This record gives sequence, structure tokens and C-alpha cells, in this order.
Amino acid sequence: MRILSGIQPSGALHLGNYFGMMKPAIELQEQGEALYFIANYHSMTSLVDPAERRRRTLDVALDFLACGLDPRKTLLFRQSDVPEVTELAWMLTTVTPMGLLERCTSYKDKIARGLSPYHGLFAYPVLMAADILIYDSNVVPVGRDQKQHVEVTRDLAVKFNETYGQTFILPEPRIREETAIVPGSDGQKMSKSYGNTIEIFGEEKVLRKKVMGLVMDSRTPQEPKPDAEKNIALQLLRLLAPPAEAKGYEDRLRAGGLGYGDLKKALFEYYWNYFAAARAKRAELAADLPFVNSVLEESAAKARALARKVLARARLACGLD
Ligand code: ADP
Ligand code: TRP
Repeated sequence: MRILSGIQPSGALHLGNYFGMMKPAIELQEQGEALYFIANYHSMTSLVDPAERRRRTLDVALDFLACGLDPRKTLLFRQSDVPEVTELAWMLTTVTPMGLLERCTSYKDKIARGLSPYHGLFAYPVLMAADILIYDSNVVPVGRDQKQHVEVTRDLAVKFNETYGQTFILPEPRIREETAIVPGSDGQKMSKSYGNTIEIFGEEKVLRKKVMGLVMDSRTPQEPKPDAEKNIALQLLRLLAPPAEAKGYEDRLRAGGLGYGDLKKALFEYYWNYFAAARAKRAELAADLPFVNSVLEESAAKARALARKVLARARLACGLD
């Protein structure tokens, strides 16, 4: 089984990225051949500053390695180190119906939030399809917001196969229902672009302030809260605390007697401890950038060899050989 996923270096990684994508991806590395890449071509649709792109690309690599990606068995590379993917994206573009992209909710959301309607943003799912198909990927671990893009990938693979003969394997999205949408500080989906994130790594003071700033309602500690499951702090605590302890907090919220301040303090402690080992590992890695760069380069060379084979198959199928 080949497992593939990507993440954009468009901002510091947060709990939504971790529980929605990184943790499942890291766990899946035990079950097959895993390839994870930093989608720096994709980040050009939202981030312009070259120095920031370089810095964030390295940050994603550090985050992934710190959180448990094992470079001895899993590949971790920069998307742009396999430029073959852009050629495949062009081939796929020629079998992409406009209507398919027009239906993509992620594009519509971005435009609604004020991003300019550039072609790169519109064609984003085609490059993502190339990312997936060029490695003959079987399984794609992502959060729910990316499900539609994996469906587009399948549609394009079918379309290409119908047009030029059997060339691509159909991939499947792998979505964990319990962490499909991790809520942010305002209750919406946690996202770099909504300014509602709690990062995995960062300064303790800043992060404590973010956790303590989670938006709650105005009910007093004594009031019973029968709708406890809707509480953002509890939802996050459930991801970070042992299940029995999380249940204890839930019961106390329901029964009344637990104040939001105390709940958030507890949440911060669980959160801070949860990533303690990863934080130490990240500091070690940050002091050994030659190692991190060698992982990225060696992984890219291996990924590129796989990509070239599939690209050759696609070129042959459409008479570009
Ligand atoms: P963002 O929305 O912060 O820009 P990305 O689009 O870069 O995040 O997402 C990277 C990965 O993390 C994707 O697989 C995405 O589905 C997942 N992800 C992002 N935010 C969340 C969230 N709040 N809950 C679950 N998964 C998420
Ligand atoms: N679009 C994904 C995101 O924003 C990142 C991505 C790019 C990706 N190419 C991919 C994810 C291929 C999975 C597979 O999160």
C-alpha cells in the first residue's frame, strides 16, 4: 500500500493540521510505503514572500520530524524537488472539465474570504491530483476539507484512463471521523487563514494566552451545561487528555460546578505536556539542519525516481514519448 499526503508551508502548523492530517499520516507509516511532501508550489497561491516560503518549508519539515515521522522508512520532501509533477498537472488540465473545478467548495470559500480569483487558485486541485497520481498512491490521509479534492483526483484519473487507456490507479481519501474537523478558538474549523489557530509549537506565553482566550458563553460555573459536547475547550481537551480524564471534565461541565477558566487551565496543561517530547526533539533537529536537509534531499531523489516512471507511462499513453 502506498500512502501519500501533502501540507502547504503557508503558516505555522496547528492542532487541526496535527490531529486531522499529521497524526494519522504518521501512524500510517507503519502500514505501508509512505510519502509526505511539503506543498511549496501550492503555497504560491497564497504566499508571495520567497524568504518566508523557504523558512516555512523548513518549519514544516522540522514539525513533521519532531512529531514522529521516521525518515528511515518514510519519505519527506519538497514538492518542487519533483518538478515532474507540474508536467503531469498540465496533462491532467487537458482532461479537466471546467465544471468540476467550479464545484470545488475550497475555491469558492477562498474567493468569498477575499482572495483574488487567480487561475492558480482555481486550478489548485489539478496540481493536487498530479501530486497524488504521480506516485501511484493508494491512500491519502487528509482532514475533511480535502476530501473533495481527492474525489476530483479520482474523476481526473478516470477521465484520463478513458481518454488514453489505463494509466492511473484510483486513490482513496482516509479521513478520521473523530478528528475530521478540529475547531479553532472561535468554534469554526481551525485554519491558518481564519486566525483562530493554536499552534503545535511556539512560545509558552503566547500559546497559553491563546488557550485562555478560547471563546466561551457567559454561563456561571455552577450552571449545569447539558450541551457540554459543544464546548470548544472540551472538544480540544478530548483530543489531548486520556479518555477517562476527559470524561471526568465532561461530567463536571454537565453537572455544573466547573468554571471555564479552570477547564481552560487544565486544557493548557494537557496540551503543553502532550507535545513536550516533540518540542525537545524539534529543538534538537533545529540545531542539526544539515541532517534535516539531507532527509529532504534523499527523500526527493527516491520520490523523483518513482514519479519519473509514472510520468513516462502517462507520456507514452498520450503519444508524448
Ligand atoms: P489550513 O486550513 O490551516 O490552511 P491546510 O489546508 O494547510 O490547513 O491543511 C493541511 C492538512 O491539515 C489537510 O489535510 C487538512 O485537511 C488538515 N486540516 C487543516 N485544518 C484542519 C482542521 N481544523 N481539522 C482537521 N483537519 C484539518
Ligand atoms: N491541498 C492540501 C491542503 O491544503 C495540500 C496538498 C497538496 C495535498 N497536494 C496534496 C494533500 C496531495 C494530499 C495529497 O491541505
